[in-house]
Amino acid sequence: MKLAVIGGGGREHAIIKKLKENPTAEIIYALPGNAGMAQDAVCVPVSASDLDAIVRFALENAIDYCVVAPDDPLAAGCVDRLEEAGIPCFGPRANAARIESSKVFAKSLMKKYQIPTARFEVFSSARDALQYLENAPMPTVIKADGLALGKGVVIAQNREEAFDAVREIMENKKFGKSGDSIVIEEFLTGPEVSVLAFCDGKTVKPMVSSMDHKRAHDGDTGLNTGGMGTVAPNPFYTDEIAQVCMETIFLPTVQAMNAEGRPFKGCLYFGLMLTQNGPKVIEYNCRFGDPETQVVLPLMESDLLTVMQAVTNGTLADCEVKFSQKSACCVIAASKGYPEEYEKGAPLTVPKELLPYCCFAGAAEKNGVLVTGGGRVLGMTALADTLSDAVKIAYARIRQVKCDNLFYRADIGKRALNAKE
Ligand code: AMP
Ligand code: GLY
Repeated sequence: MKLAVIGGGGREHAIIKKLKENPTAEIIYALPGNAGMAQDAVCVPVSASDLDAIVRFALENAIDYCVVAPDDPLAAGCVDRLEEAGIPCFGPRANAARIESSKVFAKSLMKKYQIPTARFEVFSSARDALQYLENAPMPTVIKADGLALGKGVVIAQNREEAFDAVREIMENKKFGKSGDSIVIEEFLTGPEVSVLAFCDGKTVKPMVSSMDHKRAHDGDTGLNTGGMGTVAPNPFYTDEIAQVCMETIFLPTVQAMNAEGRPFKGCLYFGLMLTQNGPKVIEYNCRFGDPETQVVLPLMESDLLTVMQAVTNGTLADCEVKFSQKSACCVIAASKGYPEEYEKGAPLTVPKELLPYCCFAGAAEKNGVLVTGGGRVLGMTALADTLSDAVKIAYARIRQVKCDNLFYRADIGKRALNAKE
């Protein structure tokens, strides 16, 4: 089979590595991929947002199956376009991707179908939002409605910060049209859990749980990032909690999307907070998470391509989705300065024997040499029988990466290990 994966980050590299395990996968194209993944895929310089070029490439190269991984092309209807052209795909259509691309839609869906989430109000005028904030309890959480590169959420500790956030998003249009509407919601506390789940529109099969580390620096300090490391499974997510989530969140969400005429097919990402009043949804994503995917897929024992095709064909109920009992840890190395300004172009060397454990993201090629080319540059993963060993091995591996413009957190997995004790 000829496969194509749309996207070019660490998540896409992890998907490609897993797809490669299927012996029928004769060639895997990455559009656009990145220079670091060139030994696992054929990288094609087609942007993940150029839907015309993606469809043209898929037809001209007789692609048998296509995986659309990032949120932007999903929201723009990449799967709809490919399916119209007769190419089977993994990923939701645009009408279902809305569960991520509009927070107002997601929150309203949860309210309508009584899926547990933070209490909230929606505003489409800055004046009304500011007036509401005069008496709202603090801290509070302000979210731009649309996609904002993971930066559209502000936790305001006090009224001044809340006013500033509303003005930035709604008046100064910091995120453009994504800020035409906002959600202001209740501030929740508790451990966070990421659960990725395969859904074929009817059946939902969750993957092993994981824990992201979103802040840039140790001790959960610094700015929010796309994610600086992950561990799986998440020790806070017990079997009992998993059962509650299945009954109160996962199944109701899939049924709600169906009832709305937006069947969700693909990977549905549940960002959960385990509050004192039970698990609640913090966010939905319509795709695999990054770097969650870099710990979750290596633990998957079932064949990824087979499961993805079952999702596409609506036969997930009959398909086994099995995970190892081991633990995994992924440490992300990012360019110094990320998530703010950073330089690119620093030479990067990863020992050959570590390439099977390394997923490249912001990696580029200059004069035949691998160099840094983005914020998050690579993720190094390790599996072991215990989480403590997985963490140790992942760090032993990432220390062998040679580059003078990278940093990584030193405490990935620490909170999970403390929870286990
Ligand atoms: P998001 O960009 O939606 O992933 O949100 C970023 C982070 O903001 C989440 O991972 C949470 O840590 C935090 N967050 C979002 N919503 C809330 C909330 N209602 N209460 C507390 N923290 C939140
Ligand atoms: N790691 C969080 C995300 O993929 O959205």
